[in-house]
Amino acid sequence: MHMDKSLINKTYIITGASSGMGRATALKFAQEGAQLILSGRDEAKGQQVVNEIHSTNGSAVFYQGDVSDLDYNKKLVELAIQHYGQLDGLVTNAGILGLGSITELEPKLWHDTFGVNVNSVFYLLKFAIPEMLKRPSASVVVNASIAAFKTFPNHPAYCASKAALVALAKQAAVEYGPTIRINCICPGPVDTPLIHASAVAFPDPAKAVEDAGKNTLLQRLGTPEDIAKLTFFLISEDSSWITGSVYTIDGGAIAKG
Ligand SMILES: NC(=O)c1ccc[n+]([C@@H]2O[C@H](COP(=O)([O-])OP(=O)(O)OC[C@H]3O[C@@H](n4cnc5c(N)ncnc54)[C@H](O)[C@@H]3O)[C@@H](O)[C@H]2O)c1
Repeated sequence: MHMDKSLINKTYIITGASSGMGRATALKFAQEGAQLILSGRDEAKGQQVVNEIHSTNGSAVFYQGDVSDLDYNKKLVELAIQHYGQLDGLVTNAGILGLGSITELEPKLWHDTFGVNVNSVFYLLKFAIPEMLKRPSASVVVNASIAAFKTFPNHPAYCASKAALVALAKQAAVEYGPTIRINCICPGPVDTPLIHASAVAFPDPAKAVEDAGKNTLLQRLGTPEDIAKLTFFLISEDSSWITGSVYTIDGGAIAKG
């Protein structure tokens, strides 16, 4: 009956699933029949996503915690095995901004930004890879940003951490191919709480978000659903000859320069 759902009987961990792109990706994957372990900081919002998925007969578990903590990542993988007996892939999507110029940024915030944005991906891959190697077509999507290639005012920790993710994703693809496919997405300006928080680092915060959308070739901000569709494609078997690749999805922002 569900044969049209391409992620049926597959299990994924999605981090940052309580908000924005992670939430949209969780809803999309659930529609496609996936079984999900969802991670985020906000228990209430995470439970809301789970309730939404359950209301359409989908399957998901939310586990609140901090992705920069090694043991928390171990637990996410254990939960996938406990609940579903397998792990077919990851969407590493949790992220923070760590705003501040190099001279003003507290070293703690620099470390926290790398902890959440980069160390978390190393930790989750470390525990998840042995499980994913047991599966026939495991796939991972790492959410970086166009900030890996482009500067933004007062975003040094963010930009550096996102560049590190691009390199980590490619390295992981080389080490664990052909069994596990690993790709990286680099979104441009997307309408989520994070982009509004990012605006305060710009000289004119009120105009920053509006301009970010207008200054793309397609003259609008991306939606979380735009990102969920690319993430779904890269997780699914429709992309079975794609690995170690880096995709900008930015309404043409990088092309425009
Ligand atoms: N919004 C944009 O314009 C944009 C552009 C490019 C890339 N991104 C990236 O996309 C990803 C998703 O961001 P979003 O825009 O949907 O933002 P968002 O703020 O709506 O969501 C961020 C998610 O990360 C989770 N998170 C943050 N810190 C965490 C921690 N320590 N432990 C566990 N979870 C944590 C939050 O709970 C939340 O679910 C981020 O990695 C972000 O850097 C965003």
